[in-house]
Amino acid sequence: MTTVATQTLTVHQKAARSSVAMKVLMAVTGIFLILFLLMHAWGNLKAFFGPEAYDHYAEWLKSDILYPLIPKGWFIWIFRVFMVACIVLHMASAYVLTLRSLGGRGKYQRKDRRTQTFAARTMRWGGVILLMLLLFHLGEFTIGWFRTGFNAGATPYTAVVATFQQWWLVLLYALFVGTVCIHLRHGIWSAMTTLGANTSPKARRVLNYTAIFVSVLLFAAFMVMPVAVLFGGIK
Ligand code: HEM
Repeated sequence: MTTVATQTLTVHQKAARSSVAMKVLMAVTGIFLILFLLMHAWGNLKAFFGPEAYDHYAEWLKSDILYPLIPKGWFIWIFRVFMVACIVLHMASAYVLTLRSLGGRGKYQRKDRRTQTFAARTMRWGGVILLMLLLFHLGEFTIGWFRTGFNAGATPYTAVVATFQQWWLVLLYALFVGTVCIHLRHGIWSAMTTLGANTSPKARRVLNYTAIFVSVLLFAAFMVMPVAVLFGGIK
């Protein structure tokens, strides 16, 4: 009897420990993705300084970083592999944790949705919509599956300006970036809680405001350029 109880406890302990490990993995990969987004939004603002500044930045990203430590052009591929690994690990841990939480609670004991924020309630579907919009984004600008008003071989600056002269694409990007930011609003909070920052009511308030501040800042930093193109401020 005791042996069975001990064994059961060990199985539960192992499951709990592996869930904590998954949460840490999700938090750490999420933080890398947020850092990428902050850098990407900052890079996009270069469009305000003209075609040379924007295209030079896009070119630099693909050629010179860490050269001569590594050969020219390697950085972007190391970076891409790292980013894809982060996205896959982030989604895989979300998937496993979702299955565990549904399994553990049972379908009659779901969390009380009224006490959750909109951002928290939409994490899973938000993540899926986000992935689809990201595929649209990469298909358009990076992979070249389709083009929205520019030719093959257009510079990044020309491609971006041609795209955002169309109002529906500005709206679509507002939806894309908005989904990212709603996801982040809860994600930052969750990641910091997992990493042990949510220790008191005051810390909770600070975390909450930080999550809102970073999400709003990122939304503004991404969208100011497309809106400026739409209204003729960037040509
Ligand atoms: C208004 C918002 C955005 C604009 C104008 C924009 C613009 C661009 C452009 C022009 C490129 C291609 C750069 C090049 O190949 O030279 C690019 C690449 C990329 N963007 Fe965005 N982006 C925006 C938002 C986002 C968001 C919200 C995400 C992620 C959720 C994202 C993720 C990426 C990724 C992963 C790449 C590929 C980087 C690479 O491997 O080369 N972008 N973006």
